[in-house]
Amino acid sequence: MRKKRVAILISGRGSNMAALIEAARDPAYPAEIVGVLSNVAGAGGLERAARAGIATATLAQQTFAAKAEHEAAVTARLEAWGVEIVCLAGYMRLLSAAFVERWAGRLINIHPSLLPAFKGLDTHARALAAGAAEHGCTVHFVTAEMDGGPVIAQARIKVLGNDTPETLAARVLLEEHRLYPEALRLLAGDGAPYRPA
Ligand code: GRF
Repeated sequence: MRKKRVAILISGRGSNMAALIEAARDPAYPAEIVGVLSNVAGAGGLERAARAGIATATLAQQTFAAKAEHEAAVTARLEAWGVEIVCLAGYMRLLSAAFVERWAGRLINIHPSLLPAFKGLDTHARALAAGAAEHGCTVHFVTAEMDGGPVIAQARIKVLGNDTPETLAARVLLEEHRLYPEALRLLAGDGAPYRPA
C-alpha cells in the first residue's frame, strides 16, 4: 500500500493534529503526515509536531502583503512536500476560492458542530443557547462557502442539562480526536477520490 502524503494546517494548540499524527503511526493507516504548516508563529502545535519528527513550516500571514501571496506561499510549501491531501485542524483563516479550487476534493476540515447547524465560531455556546438536544462535530470537504462543503463524517453526543460551553467543548473534542483520523482514513483509502461538482 502506498500511503497518501498529507499535510496539516494549524493556527493553535494542534490537538486534532496530534490525533492525526498518532493515527498515522499505524503501519496499516493509508496516510502519512509529511508536514505541519502554521499561519501563526509560535502555534503550540508546531512544537508538538516537531517532537513527533514531522517537518514544520511557519508562514505568518502578516508577513505577506496580501492574502493571495500568503496562499501562494502555502501552496508552494505543500507542493514541495509532495502533498496529496490537506487537513485543516484549527486553521483560523478563511481560504480563498482560488486556493480551495486548487485542492478541490483533497482539502478537508473539522468543525465542532453538527453541520449545517452552527457554522462559524462559538459553536458550543450557541448550541446551548439554542437548546439543542444533540451536538457534535463534522469532518467535511472545504469549498468556498465557509463550513459549507459536503460532509464526510459526523459524531454526535447528547447535550446534558448541566452542560456549560466548556464541558460541551471538552466532550466534543474527544469525539473530534476519534472522528478526524477515521474520516482521513476514508478519504486516503482505496477508492476514487471525491470531487465536488
Ligand atoms: C477544534 O475544536 C476544531 O474543531 C476547530 O478548532 C479547534 C482546534 O483545536 N476547527 P485543536 O487546535 O485541534 O486543538
